Amino acid sequence: MTTQSAIAWLNGEWQPLAETRISPLDRGFLFGDGIYEVIPSYQGKPVGLHLHLQRLANGLAAIGISNPYSDQQWQQLVLELISRNQCLANDGAGLAIYLHVSRGADYKRGHAFPVGVNPTVFGYGFAIAPAPTGVLASAKGVAVHSEQDLRWQRCQIKSTALLGNVLHHQAGIVAGCYETILFNGQGELTEGSSCNVFIAKNGVVATPLLDQQILPGITRHILLQLLRANQWPVEERVISRAEVLAADEVWLTSSSKELVPVVQLDGQPVGSGQVGPMWSQAQQLFARHRFDQFH
Ligand code: PDD
Repeated sequence: MTTQSAIAWLNGEWQPLAETRISPLDRGFLFGDGIYEVIPSYQGKPVGLHLHLQRLANGLAAIGISNPYSDQQWQQLVLELISRNQCLANDGAGLAIYLHVSRGADYKRGHAFPVGVNPTVFGYGFAIAPAPTGVLASAKGVAVHSEQDLRWQRCQIKSTALLGNVLHHQAGIVAGCYETILFNGQGELTEGSSCNVFIAKNGVVATPLLDQQILPGITRHILLQLLRANQWPVEERVISRAEVLAADEVWLTSSSKELVPVVQLDGQPVGSGQVGPMWSQAQQLFARHRFDQFH
């Protein structure tokens, strides 16, 4: 199966993804004026659904789009997107649900918020890797590139305007890496171009604190809750570049991949240069509890 057979929701109608059409005047298209979510699911069950819908509501409120659906309507939509697209998740693959709300299509282009225009609501499903298990023997670490974070100053909003992220990500690809991790002008870790970042040193796990420099990742939130509930020492704080370079382990977190171990940064080994035991334990913990309710 390919994405050709995905079923999409567009403004109240179910359609094959390949046949969905929006106006070129849609502000999502013209300005990146919208909010999105990516919600993972495995065997038909979503991970962190309430947290994703809360972040979607927060993002819409932050940019002044009135939420087109109630929480219950969103939940029903996500569950139906999962069931209609389950056929895409072959051989144990997971299924991610993409939700997108733009400010809608006006009759002309103009920066001001249009009056009397309905938001565009779009959703579809796509296959992701099978649910990660955290088994050390079969784990492959990734190499990452680093750059100064040159994105805007409202990175807590999950905006569809992702050009800054795209350019950072592509620089990592060009450098032969899986991802690019970002440091602000003071040399402090922010996040990856499409993920959050954790470090582990001497048994203590740390991640940058939530502010306007990073997205409040749902995977980050769930992981922090689980680590704390299991008495792991955890810190949310400013992390310098020197600390990342000296870490025993570095992990990336995102909804489509859960925890990804980093074994190389800018061509230098991270820790031992091998996937680490703390990653394995943390990912296994995540795997045991990914469907629990987190608040
Ligand atoms: N990316 N930071 C950024 C900039 C992201 O784009 C993402 C997610 C995260 C992790 O958030 P979460 O754990 O809620 O997925 C952090 C998604 C998956 C994407 O854009 O495809």
